[in-house]
Amino acid sequence: MKEQLYDIKRRATEELSKISTIQDLDAVRIRFLGKKGELTSVLRGMGALSPEERPVIGQLANEIRTFIEERIDEVKKELGEKELERKLRSEYIDVTMPGRRRYLGKKHPLTLVLDEIKEVFIGMGFEIAEGPEIELDYYNFEALNTPKNHPARDVQDTFYITDEILLRTQTSPVQVRVMENRRPPIRIICPGRVYRSDAVDATHSPIFHQVEGLVVDKGVTMGDLIGTLKVFARSLFGEKTEIRLRPHHFPFTEPSAEVDVSCWACGGSGCRVCKGEGWIEILGAGMVHPRVLEMCSIDPEVYSGFAFGLGVERTAMGRFNIDDMRLLYENDIRFLSQF
Ligand code: DAH
Repeated sequence: MKEQLYDIKRRATEELSKISTIQDLDAVRIRFLGKKGELTSVLRGMGALSPEERPVIGQLANEIRTFIEERIDEVKKELGEKELERKLRSEYIDVTMPGRRRYLGKKHPLTLVLDEIKEVFIGMGFEIAEGPEIELDYYNFEALNTPKNHPARDVQDTFYITDEILLRTQTSPVQVRVMENRRPPIRIICPGRVYRSDAVDATHSPIFHQVEGLVVDKGVTMGDLIGTLKVFARSLFGEKTEIRLRPHHFPFTEPSAEVDVSCWACGGSGCRVCKGEGWIEILGAGMVHPRVLEMCSIDPEVYSGFAFGLGVERTAMGRFNIDDMRLLYENDIRFLSQF
């Protein structure tokens, strides 16, 4: 029996020296010290021993149990330390390592300017209206007093889809759509994309943006138009900005004007930005033509209105001193991050 006990001690010691996981350790403990373990089953045979031998074997068995238990505790501790070290190594963070840079997105300059424009007009009581980019010839030209073979059609190189359907060349058709559906007083702006078959260069693009404005009510005058545009120009380009109206012709307004603002760069004395003129053209405007009102069943004897069409690209180029329109479409992050 002594031999058996020493054998248990020897084998337990050997196995414990090879252990590498807590689970293996548990298995060894159960196998040698458990209720059905080897040590227990040896002790079960104690009944066959003489009364003198019994305490001797009992003491030896206890010593071996204690010995194995202590070994198990030691191995457990070693395993714990190894595990901790492995964890520390794998979860190591170099706090001196430079962080990963994240770039913050920004609004596109056209969006920034459009936001400013909307803000100014909303502040004056205008509402925002929208219309389709694929438009009927009727709304883009006909109802705007521009019949087929009218010379004004030539200056707007139109993308036709069919004879009657086109990509709108201006935001003016939204005026008609609004007037057909609503009665005065009307005070709207319509921002949107427009299309013309133009070659790309520093000041042209086949797709660009306009903001249309329309006011129709009783007693609306040219004075109201000028006052409104002054407020707009000064909010965008500064309090000292002046505006100037030059007589012009649009089929849908009478009288019509092209509107200049005093140069945002030099204030009017003449510089490179305004090509020495002191003024920069930013929009077309006029009093809504009586025929246009009539075609929308608004009585021109009772109501009058003004309208204007503003180039958003040109305004953005002025507002941010951009000298090439192509920069607005190329999406070069080095350019866009400046705003
Ligand atoms: N639609 C014109 C264009 O694209 C701009 C314009 C001029 C709009 C006069 C108007 C206006 O509403 O009254 O060139």
